[in-house]
Amino acid sequence: MAESEPIISLRDVSRVFHAQRGDVVALSEVDLDINEGEFITMVGPSGCGKSTALNVIVGLLDATTGDVLFRGKPSRGINKEIGYVTQSDNLFPWRTVIENVTFGLEMQGIGTKAERLDRARQLLDRVGLNGFENHYRHELSGGMRQRVNIVRTLAYDPKVILLDEPFGPLDAQTRLQLQDLLLELWQERAGTTVIFITHELTEAIALADRVVVMSARPGRVSEVVPVDIPRPRDIFSIQSEPSFRSIYDRIWEHLGEETKVAAL
Ligand SMILES: Nc1ncnc2c1ncn2[C@@H]1O[C@H](COP(=O)(O)OP(=O)(O)OP(=O)(O)O)[C@@H](O)[C@H]1O
Ligand SMILES: [Mg+2]
Repeated sequence: MAESEPIISLRDVSRVFHAQRGDVVALSEVDLDINEGEFITMVGPSGCGKSTALNVIVGLLDATTGDVLFRGKPSRGINKEIGYVTQSDNLFPWRTVIENVTFGLEMQGIGTKAERLDRARQLLDRVGLNGFENHYRHELSGGMRQRVNIVRTLAYDPKVILLDEPFGPLDAQTRLQLQDLLLELWQERAGTTVIFITHELTEAIALADRVVVMSARPGRVSEVVPVDIPRPRDIFSIQSEPSFRSIYDRIWEHLGEETKVAAL
């Protein structure tokens, strides 16, 4: 593989939904190259097609036109090298925390039962959930559920991880802690590519190598903003980084115009 070859490329990708009240163009002519090991965040007004973009990338939805390439080859069907952390945690309520984490490993036929349990325990420990292995979903807080949700995807080490507003419903403090943890776990997994959707601009900047700003429907990429803040980053004081303000303003400028258009 040429070193410069992107792991994921969207080439002129459009997605139209045919609904009774007419067609909805959720994505229009999206061109985007994502490099191996990159941390990409995606922002844009509600309904602009962010979740649709992730669904098309993972193969849950087909593109209406255009191509999704994985390591330069057209991607067909569900891509098993991609892990998907959806906004709602989707934990199995009848399985314990550790059984939820080992489920993905079982499905992929990874390791013996003892190895799977061991790997799950280590990860749960890392995210501060030791002692909660045998709890059920209803016994966990929102932040704990999202930790389990993320851990169960990390457990099988996918090459690419998509996260759709994973910290959306959480309070500010828990959110910062989970951002910090996610960056730490990503940095330990050299070469893992992340695409992370958020509505929170500070979060988008704090995490990303590049922020993809989407425009209002039909969803297009209106700007890609590089974040030159060195790593490892201190999530808790990211706003005092010298370049933070100018990056924020550049995203806001593109988002602002588009959000106004969307509100018309
Ligand atoms: N299965 C579907 N059938 C019909 N229309 C759909 C379907 N999925 C999404 N849409 C429409 O496509 C557009 C984009 O939806 P999408 O969920 O991708 O937006 P989003 O950017 O993720 O929004 P949000 O920030 O609110 O999560 C919306 O207008 C939505 O109504
Ligand atoms: Mg969405």
